[in-house]
Amino acid sequence: MTAAPVAPIELGVELGARSYPIAIGAGLLGDAPRIAAAICGRHALIVSNDVVAPLYLERLENALLHRGDDVLQGEHRASLPGMTVTRLLLPDGEAFKTLASAAQVFDALAAMKANRDATIIALGGGVIGDLAGFAAACWMRGIAFVQVPTTLLAMVDSSVGGKTAVDLAQGKNLVGAFHQPRAVIADTDTLATLPARELRAGFAEVIKYGALGDAEFFAGLERNADALLAREGEALTATIAHCCRQKAGIVARDETEQGERALLNLGHTFGHAIETAMGYGGLLHGEAVAVGMVLAARLSANLGRAAAADTHRLVALLERFGLPTTVPAGLDPDRLIGLMQLDKKNLSGSLRLILWRGVGKADVVPDVDLAAVRAVLAQAT
Ligand SMILES: NC(=O)c1ccc[n+]([C@@H]2O[C@H](COP(=O)([O-])OP(=O)(O)OC[C@H]3O[C@@H](n4cnc5c(N)ncnc54)[C@H](O)[C@@H]3O)[C@@H](O)[C@H]2O)c1
Repeated sequence: MTAAPVAPIELGVELGARSYPIAIGAGLLGDAPRIAAAICGRHALIVSNDVVAPLYLERLENALLHRGDDVLQGEHRASLPGMTVTRLLLPDGEAFKTLASAAQVFDALAAMKANRDATIIALGGGVIGDLAGFAAACWMRGIAFVQVPTTLLAMVDSSVGGKTAVDLAQGKNLVGAFHQPRAVIADTDTLATLPARELRAGFAEVIKYGALGDAEFFAGLERNADALLAREGEALTATIAHCCRQKAGIVARDETEQGERALLNLGHTFGHAIETAMGYGGLLHGEAVAVGMVLAARLSANLGRAAAADTHRLVALLERFGLPTTVPAGLDPDRLIGLMQLDKKNLSGSLRLILWRGVGKADVVPDVDLAAVRAVLAQAT
């Protein structure tokens, strides 16, 4: 007897007319009605990369075209009359989250003769999601897009909330737009093929949610690390849902980051500077965020805002999840500070950072003392 399929966890981001559903569960790539409901228009362009596509693109395409699904075929084919499904595969990696890749998406849309009657489907991790979302925001001033995240990081963070962007050589995510997806469909089965290092990098963002706003969740991660690292389905799905719920609440209250949403950047100003200084090729994004959270915690302790014991607890949890906690050798603190000053969160040249008051409590702090930042960077290299 085969086990009955476990129903997905369903959440939502409440943004009035732009509200959208988030579904998290096993087997969702084959959920034709759910995928069909998220598409609008006559054209669907699946944007993916050459690592994810061989694994999952066919499953998604089959669901979109309802191949091999006799029960649904008639009903849903009729609901999407004459829909064309096209694929665009980009090379893998952050180095391709660029304007040049966005231009390839525009070329593909033009070749499809798409106008506003098209939906872009982002199948992949945060790189594909950010890039495809950005292209969707720009094409004819905005078309629909659907996030189908396939990394832990994308499931818990980047697929939710509508931040889209590409990188420039001068800095990460410098060109972008707020553009909410029409749906987020996270098939947790895809995590089975995620390399262990990428899974761990995703846990950096998971830990971030506990660190910035939920001490109980943080303690739960301390208790459940083994199950989570072993990719146990129930523990993983519940953890992803918890993060999405926390993010959805924050986004609903502060969509364009006028206040509370900035807290989600805990560790990111440091982390982005490290990623940029390393040419987007050294640490993974989540790994850089892990180091950045430790730096933010140490800085907070040095400034008397948090207890050093909390920093030790954060370092221990990050290490438990196999994440780095020190700045890679050879990075010059002054260069990192220069890169941090280019960060979007800064106002008129001063350094605005997310500091914390210990596990579960974080604040946006303007005008952080540069000497204190330099000291913490010098201490950590
Ligand atoms: N928009 C936001 O709010 C937001 C938030 C956090 C991060 N981000 C962005 O997300 C990006 C990082 O995302 P990421 O960590 O998912 O990286 P990624 O997209 O590069 O994916 C990581 C690697 O895993 C591969 N991969 C993806 N799914 C797989 C699967 N199921 N099986 C096997 N391999 C798979 C990818 O091809 C890639 O090699 C960064 O660009 C970051 O700036 C955006």
